[in-house]
Amino acid sequence: MTTTLVPALRSATEPDPARPAEAADAGPGPLGVLGVPGQVNLDYAATAPCARVAADAVAELLPWYGSVHRGAGAASRRSTLAYERARQTVGDFLGARGDDHVIFTRNTTDALNLLARALPAGTTVVTFAGEHHANLLPWRGGTVRLPVPRSAGAALRALDAALGELRRDTDGAAPVLVAVTGASNVTGECWPVAELALVAHRHGARIAVDAAQLAPHVPLDIAALAVDYVAISGHKLYAPFGAGVLAGRADWLDAAPPYLAGGGATTAVGAATHDVRWARGPARHEAGTPNLLGAVALAAVCAALESADRTALHAREQALLARLRSGLAALPEVLELRTFDAAAPRVGIVSFVVAGRDSTRVAEELGREHGIGLRDGLFCAHPLTRRLLTEAATRAGRSDLPPTALRASIGLGSTRDDVDRLLTALAGLG
Ligand code: ALA
Repeated sequence: MTTTLVPALRSATEPDPARPAEAADAGPGPLGVLGVPGQVNLDYAATAPCARVAADAVAELLPWYGSVHRGAGAASRRSTLAYERARQTVGDFLGARGDDHVIFTRNTTDALNLLARALPAGTTVVTFAGEHHANLLPWRGGTVRLPVPRSAGAALRALDAALGELRRDTDGAAPVLVAVTGASNVTGECWPVAELALVAHRHGARIAVDAAQLAPHVPLDIAALAVDYVAISGHKLYAPFGAGVLAGRADWLDAAPPYLAGGGATTAVGAATHDVRWARGPARHEAGTPNLLGAVALAAVCAALESADRTALHAREQALLARLRSGLAALPEVLELRTFDAAAPRVGIVSFVVAGRDSTRVAEELGREHGIGLRDGLFCAHPLTRRLLTEAATRAGRSDLPPTALRASIGLGSTRDDVDRLLTALAGLG
């Protein structure tokens, strides 16, 4: 395997001579997350840094890069094999059932839009108002948007009541899809996916999970969770090159019009306009030359994570998260945003505000003066973030909170030093 694709980049888990010795606490890490010397990346939730394993897998394939599903030459055959192996690897990583489809998309947004287009006529979609826009906006036709719940238990009760009502209204005849996040991109709080699936199924509904923020942090198993669909993004899973995935039940996907109409999605096309026979399976929705490098990069990360000690990785991330949250809590002007109780389980994401300070200006200062990258804004979850800002102001009895927030998010390449540098920089804001 070659490792020269990005020679200027170092692994974030390698000691950096430009940074204090504590930075070496990262350990070897299973993926070799890349980073830029001197820069602190606390923006994993938007786009995670590239894993060395993804870069290496792409570099190894590049000489063979060729046509997928469309050629008999050696490069084409190898590329086709690599693409289909990637599908299998990603499906295994997600715990897909044998008869699930694993469809490559561009990202989670694309995957959920695909699912939205594949819903049978008359489907009602039930979501919560705290979702990322990717899981709020694609749904058409009948939608029920439940208020943001105060706890995991409240989410279960609200869903149970809403689905019961829908069933009574429709005599249980119309399809229903519940679409929920696995972990919030604003707060990192984990949703009770397995329990929500039980509630959904008890009412004859299906459930789709936006796992964009969950999959990078905890093992995900479609079959064990008994969910019907999951959507993930490669770019949040240390795999650049633009691949995402929708995985789940085949029947609606095979019956739906193709998401993209074109070459590769058909088995036969006649001369008459409507004389088309559409393929079944993933090909139906993957017209055009597919994103081979994206799929291979994603599969490389999935394979590396599959063979890693994820319990240890999770424990390490949780320790960093606890350090970050307790450090933020100790800063008198900093207020954390949360939906559930402060002790509710979370992945490595924290949104917060500095009272009396504009969040964009703070983010700019952190970047410019301290080499710290994080996200500011409303995080593509405007209804939720606005609501949490209002609630944080009420809880703290303050009227000087800015209208947008800051978000620090960590992952496999994060270190104690990264966290401490943020806390020190926030403490010293001018
Ligand atoms: N959805 C990504 C985020 O939360 C971009 O930042």
